[in-house]
Amino acid sequence: MQYVVNGTIVPAGKATLNVGDLAILRGYGIFDYFLFEEFRPLFFDQYLDRFYRSAERMHLEVPYSREELTRQILDLIAANGAKKGGIRLVLTGGYTEDGYSPSRPNLVIMQYPMPGHPESCYTEGVKLLTHPYRREVPDVKTINYLMGIQMLPKLRSSGAKELLYHSGPHITESTRSNFFLVTADDTLVTPAEDILYGITRHQVLDIASDVMKVEVRDVTLDELADCKEAFLTGSTKKVMPVVGINSLVVGTGRPGPVTQRIMQAYANRCEAYLQEKWRGQKSEIRG
Ligand SMILES: Cc1ncc(COP(=O)(O)O)c(C=O)c1O
Repeated sequence: MQYVVNGTIVPAGKATLNVGDLAILRGYGIFDYFLFEEFRPLFFDQYLDRFYRSAERMHLEVPYSREELTRQILDLIAANGAKKGGIRLVLTGGYTEDGYSPSRPNLVIMQYPMPGHPESCYTEGVKLLTHPYRREVPDVKTINYLMGIQMLPKLRSSGAKELLYHSGPHITESTRSNFFLVTADDTLVTPAEDILYGITRHQVLDIASDVMKVEVRDVTLDELADCKEAFLTGSTKKVMPVVGINSLVVGTGRPGPVTQRIMQAYANRCEAYLQEKWRGQKSEIRG
């Protein structure tokens, strides 16, 4: 596999940054992550929008224009030759002179084989553990996953997939996904604030609002007890049913019908996007 470091394609093993980068010294940096299929990134514009927005919010300048970054990403995918996989963009605080102040950011583009989760996560559903925590700058995709990673041993010993964060009584998101529930009166609900505005969340809201009642608002922990269904959304998880939260059984304890319909509709939406957005551009992408 090859990566891109500051505009140059290099073998993954030789893709290095100096240890003086603010990302290493202080954990200061942002990233984004998206999938590609048939050499074509999924929901590409939305991920690029979020990447540039995250950079701006953290006062980091992306050293390339959108057109140039797009070219680098497509060139990397073509150079690696795999039809599908994942792409991670990382923008760091740069080589700091005083150990604290950002400087010119470094930009790394990394490619991975297509990620996946065990089939049972979708057929059986997953469990979550609630945890009081608010990400420091929730609407920015920072590289800081300190709490989630610190809690991995507890998560693993309890057989849970992710932490479900809450700020006081309000549910926000999970460690690496957005959270949805289906109420007793069949309304799809997802938290409005203190979250990363997930690209998958956005697609799911768009799909669901055509077919059912949808509310984007504060969601309290108390609402978990009465919900019929719950699920997570994320770029690699897609739409993943949640069947347990702490000791609570969600709904029937099985992936519910609304979740299953949304899982299918999201798969269709991805397929339609790839057909529509990149129609006739395949040969150009492969260079
Ligand atoms: C904290 C957090 N919330 C939500 C998400 C889901 O976002 P997306 O659907 O864009 O992958 C992620 C994805 O990594 C995340 O890290």
